[in-house]
Amino acid sequence: MKQFIKHMVRITYPALSWLLLPALLTIMVTIPTSEANRKTSKVPAVIVFGDSSVDSGNNNVILTVLKSNFRPYGRDFEGGQPTGRFCNGRVPPDFIAEAFGVKRSIPAYLDPAFDIDDFATGVCFASAGTGYDNATSDVLNVIPLWKELELYKEYQVKLREHLGVEKANHIIREALYLMSLGTNDFLENYYIFPTRRTQFTVTQYQDFLLGIAENFIRELYALGARKLSITGLVPMGCLPLERATNIFGDHACNDEYNDVALGFNAKLENLISKLNRHLPQLKAVSANAYDILDDIIKRPSTYGYEEVEKACCSTGTFEMSYLCSDKNPLTCTDASKYVFWDAFHPTEKTNQIVSNYLIPKLLAYFR
Ligand SMILES: *[C@@H]1O[C@H](CO)[C@@H](O)[C@H](O)[C@H]1NC(C)=O
Repeated sequence: MKQFIKHMVRITYPALSWLLLPALLTIMVTIPTSEANRKTSKVPAVIVFGDSSVDSGNNNVILTVLKSNFRPYGRDFEGGQPTGRFCNGRVPPDFIAEAFGVKRSIPAYLDPAFDIDDFATGVCFASAGTGYDNATSDVLNVIPLWKELELYKEYQVKLREHLGVEKANHIIREALYLMSLGTNDFLENYYIFPTRRTQFTVTQYQDFLLGIAENFIRELYALGARKLSITGLVPMGCLPLERATNIFGDHACNDEYNDVALGFNAKLENLISKLNRHLPQLKAVSANAYDILDDIIKRPSTYGYEEVEKACCSTGTFEMSYLCSDKNPLTCTDASKYVFWDAFHPTEKTNQIVSNYLIPKLLAYFR
């Protein structure tokens, strides 16, 4: 049906599109939704690894202070429910999964409200505060990246028990895998604690992290993953917390951090090309969010924002997690006027704009 519509639109567009459009729309809306969903579902599942940019609630059940399963987090999520997403609403994997026709939100693997039946169409192993470096996840006692992979192996076993080997292997092979992490390695570890800074220059540290990324992707590939989208760093020097601490720079963006992010992303692109050449069935793509977020930050009013320097939550300068309290009268009422939700994380609106920017590339690559 979709092919037919595309074909019709192509051949009739110049002269007849205005006449035909209402008819085509009628045909499209009268397809029963279940059939439409099945037809537009491009992958059987979306499987997520990373940090708070994509965590949907794994930190709720581990012993860390880095949590967000309380209001005002989630106040614009379905039902106004806090889930453990570091946002007022949804995070990019939710938007991407929806665009691929899979589901509207990706449940966290450790969330007891969901089971293997839910996880068969999408599962998140991400943990807020984690990084490529084991030393980063140690800082706030969150799930290290290697442990995310251990949980994924456990998931594969459960999936095969639940659906049988053949169906499970199909899901594992055809699923879209999303990776998004790296910011914490620099902002929570390298630039905060002396250990890594005495071992590595920042360039060497980038290479150290990308070495871990390479091993991780090779292991994931060996476990059966094929379709992989990797998001590197955003302009992390413009996060409200980094502006707030840029005292001698008049609270502007920290340019050094942004340069480190750009350098890291360029090396990540090289790594992705190399792995695509070396691993014959791998289809890895860079889902680079730097440029779109940079544009939002430089021209916020173009996107309908009123505030880019300070976050919605509390004073908007340093608060996140437990410091981001529902009781704070300073917390904004309309998060969609803000680029950032808390001192470290974008609002749902920003996540949506970034996702809408990445989705066409992903759909084209994994169609
Ligand atoms: C991180 O820790 C795990 C578990 O101890 C270990 O297997 C892995 O080699 C470590 N990674 C690095 C890069 O040191």
